Amino acid sequence: MIVENMNEGILSVIGNTPLVKLTKIFGSSGFNLFAKLESLNPGGSVKDRSALRIVEDALAIGLIRPGDTIIESSSGNMGIGLAQVCAYYGLCFICVVDPKTTRLNIDILKAFGATVEVVSTSNSQTGDFLQARLDLVEKLRKEIDRSFWPDQYRNLANPMAHHRTMHEIAGALNGEVDLLFCATSTCGTIRGCAEYIRAHRLRTRIYAVDAVGSVIFGGQFAKRLIPGHGAAVRPELYQPDLADECIQVTDLQCVIGCRRLVREEAILAGGSSGAGMRGPRRSSRTGSPPTTGWCASTAP
Ligand SMILES: Cc1ncc(COP(=O)(O)O)c(C=O)c1O
Repeated sequence: MIVENMNEGILSVIGNTPLVKLTKIFGSSGFNLFAKLESLNPGGSVKDRSALRIVEDALAIGLIRPGDTIIESSSGNMGIGLAQVCAYYGLCFICVVDPKTTRLNIDILKAFGATVEVVSTSNSQTGDFLQARLDLVEKLRKEIDRSFWPDQYRNLANPMAHHRTMHEIAGALNGEVDLLFCATSTCGTIRGCAEYIRAHRLRTRIYAVDAVGSVIFGGQFAKRLIPGHGAAVRPELYQPDLADECIQVTDLQCVIGCRRLVREEAILAGGSSGAGMRGPRRSSRTGSPPTTGWCASTAP
């Protein structure tokens, strides 16, 4: 049976997420704010896009084939995105997490058929688990035949996936995007959007929304609780000219942003979306650009 506009397979509905004009938060200020509802990707976050592109590129060039094992370190969304893509393509997936990973994320990973390995040693000075996670990934890669590490912090397929993200935003707003507020961790999203903006000579000013305690944009490392944005080590995908400005957001400001989103717009979103709210608030005080795209990210 041929049905017009039918999606073929669950992965075909990754991307093309709705861009919604927020109607209440800035009221009649003349500041047009749009939220890109990445939580409506089938795996629940913007990371579905990176997971899909990384795996499909590796399959296309023969780096991996069905039955192989993908191993990645992730405390949440990238892991879930990879778990779904691996389940679809018949790949095994081992997700290396740490004790900060939520019970819900572990249950979702397992429901997709992933094996979950939890590290327990943190850096004695910083309390961070990143190195322990990467050490375990390396060990597993050596032990498991035909295994592949996507390395989301370095893999160029990650930013490539987000040329399309920005293409969708620019297409919906006729290219008239004054400001873009983008949560950052691996820098895949912001780098892909920035590359698209520059290649198409858009006038868009790019704001990186990072966590206080993250080192990506030169901040001091400090403990932080909200997952999603921020990084304890500067990712290899980082480039000095990725953003015109960086806004650093505290955990508390993320929570306040989430509460405003749900109370005023009835949008239930996660921490990095709450962080994203900080940028438009600041810009709306300093001027009123006519249009802005805002890249929201995940379900709570
Ligand atoms: C919900 C969410 N938003 C934003 C980001 C940051 O995106 P990127 O890794 O592309 O910098 C992440 C990263 O894990 C995330 O999980």
